[in-house]
Amino acid sequence: MSPKLILQELPADLDRERLPKHVAVIMDGNGRWAKRQGLPRIAGHSRGASTLKELLRCCKDWGIEALTTYAFSTENWGRPLEEVDFLMSLFEGKLRQELREMVKEGVKIKFMGNLQALPKSLQAEIERSVAETEQNQGIRFTVATNYGGREEIVQAARAIASQVKLGQVQPEEIDEALFKRYLYTADVCDPDLLIRTSGEMRLSNFMLWQMAYAEIYITDTLWPDFDRKEFHRALCAYQQRNRRFGKV
Ligand code: FPP
Repeated sequence: MSPKLILQELPADLDRERLPKHVAVIMDGNGRWAKRQGLPRIAGHSRGASTLKELLRCCKDWGIEALTTYAFSTENWGRPLEEVDFLMSLFEGKLRQELREMVKEGVKIKFMGNLQALPKSLQAEIERSVAETEQNQGIRFTVATNYGGREEIVQAARAIASQVKLGQVQPEEIDEALFKRYLYTADVCDPDLLIRTSGEMRLSNFMLWQMAYAEIYITDTLWPDFDRKEFHRALCAYQQRNRRFGKV
């Protein structure tokens, strides 16, 4: 059997019972990858989109229940206009191109972030892909787009405050479980594993609430080069960890 075929199955050195249920990724290093190849930054993003598709397929093949990815942060608007425009059209084009396959493969796609600020044509494509995959029962794939962790917490606090003002929620009823219901991730478990590529050791405002007990894996590999072998390595490292959740 060729190594490619073997990697379609869960590698034998991984314990199926101890796989992370939810994997989150910060896809960093597209610009550096492009620079090293003598290409414009946007070529790195295009290649990064292919890497993401392959990771989604791999998660599905290996039985991971949820994948969440940081595609565009609330801070990314500060990038050059051409790069922002390119990213918005890339998201829209890929959604249009991949929707049929996602429907067929059982992927349930979700978006999280302040979506109203995105171009209208992208919003329409987002609505269509969410609606058409709503009934799917396979892997849940969430794309954080115009997402900020602090913004998410602030909007949850604001929504709860409105409920309190209306008398629907009593202040003493506010606990972690109630708070979670107002986050974008109300219906999914917190990530067990966060992967960040390109060696940066920061959370960059990604899922600040949800990362409370995530295992963090950082690799120097640049996102466009993050393939199945790299993911296998990340999962092996994860299975070596002793998750104590604050206990002994
Ligand atoms: C960070 O690398 C990457 C981004 C801000 C964009 C990530 C988006 C994709 C990979 C496309 C995903 C596609 C879909 C359809 C969701 P960087 O540009 O900051 O890299 P650098 O640090 O090397 O400059």
